[in-house]
Amino acid sequence: MAGNIYIGEVLENEEVQENCFLMKLRTAPSFDNPVPGQFVMIRIAGLNDPFLSRPISIYSFSRNEIFCTIDLLYRVVGKGTQILAGLIEGSQVEINGPLGNGFDTTSVRKNIVFISGGIGIAPLSMLIESLSSKSEISSSQMIMYPGFQSISAVVGLEKVDRLCSDMNVCTDDGTVGEKGFVTQIFKKDIRQFKPEDTSIFACGPRGMMKALAEVLNKSKFICQVSLEERMACGTGACMGCAVAIKDKEGAMSYKRVCSDGPVFDLNDIIWD
Ligand SMILES: Cc1cc2nc3c(=O)[nH]c(=O)nc-3n(C[C@H](O)[C@H](O)[C@H](O)COP(=O)(O)OP(=O)(O)OC[C@H]3O[C@@H](n4cnc5c(N)ncnc54)[C@H](O)[C@@H]3O)c2cc1C
Ligand code: FES
Repeated sequence: MAGNIYIGEVLENEEVQENCFLMKLRTAPSFDNPVPGQFVMIRIAGLNDPFLSRPISIYSFSRNEIFCTIDLLYRVVGKGTQILAGLIEGSQVEINGPLGNGFDTTSVRKNIVFISGGIGIAPLSMLIESLSSKSEISSSQMIMYPGFQSISAVVGLEKVDRLCSDMNVCTDDGTVGEKGFVTQIFKKDIRQFKPEDTSIFACGPRGMMKALAEVLNKSKFICQVSLEERMACGTGACMGCAVAIKDKEGAMSYKRVCSDGPVFDLNDIIWD
């Protein structure tokens, strides 16, 4: 799906944590309401370099009759995100979106568990906000496991802290919360949850997702994960983001993270 291209105006672009920015964009009211887990491809408007468009999850979204506001929470890791971090109020960006499938929330269960690694908290934050406004899940409890490398990487907790009944922050070095990888911390608690009562949603780096697949191996938990693969076109045209997936019969095929995902059933992903 190619999405639609919009011009966005930067309203704010604040460094909220070391190397981590919250960008607020204003765009046209015709921008479709995004599903949590969808993303935009963003680059500076008018820039000719087609390789400088980057996928960033929609962190928050609102609209009024005149414009839509899109919030992006992003970490600076290389050239593209460095350019974004340099944008000042009034700068114009080109946004293609909303893109991808997003999380499926049609049948969430009594316990809703969110597991994030680093900036993977961004799409989960929008999901948590969206679920908390649904009356059908008012009897569910939302439990969050946000993992970060260290205290200096902790970001995005304020909003989810208000909305989740249980927060289990952890860091690799123990500078905040429990010490350890988020998958290890979740593994210690896993007996509290019954697969038939639990929906799991996760987003983080590939290594974390793979470790989560090992933790949940052969269990009956249903877990949707949003993958953060590198992308080129972002719209399904180049196969640059392909991942190996097994179908219900166990046969392998390649799916595009940008257009078939970024959200997949964890059990369907082939890691090696
Ligand atoms: C669907 C989706 C949603 C995303 N949402 C967010 C978000 O909300 N916030 C956010 O900060 N980031 C998000 N990302 C990741 C973000 O797109 C990359 O960090 C960004 O494209 C890096 O571009 P760059 O030019 O700054 O870095 P590059 O110069 O391209 O790369 C710099 C370094 O980062 C590594 N790298 C680049 N991209 C990735 C990646 N996707 N996974 C692992 N390593 C990578 C490279 O190997 C290299 O070492 C998302 C990615 C996807 C696919
Ligand atoms: S990035 Fe081109 S097909 Fe996904």
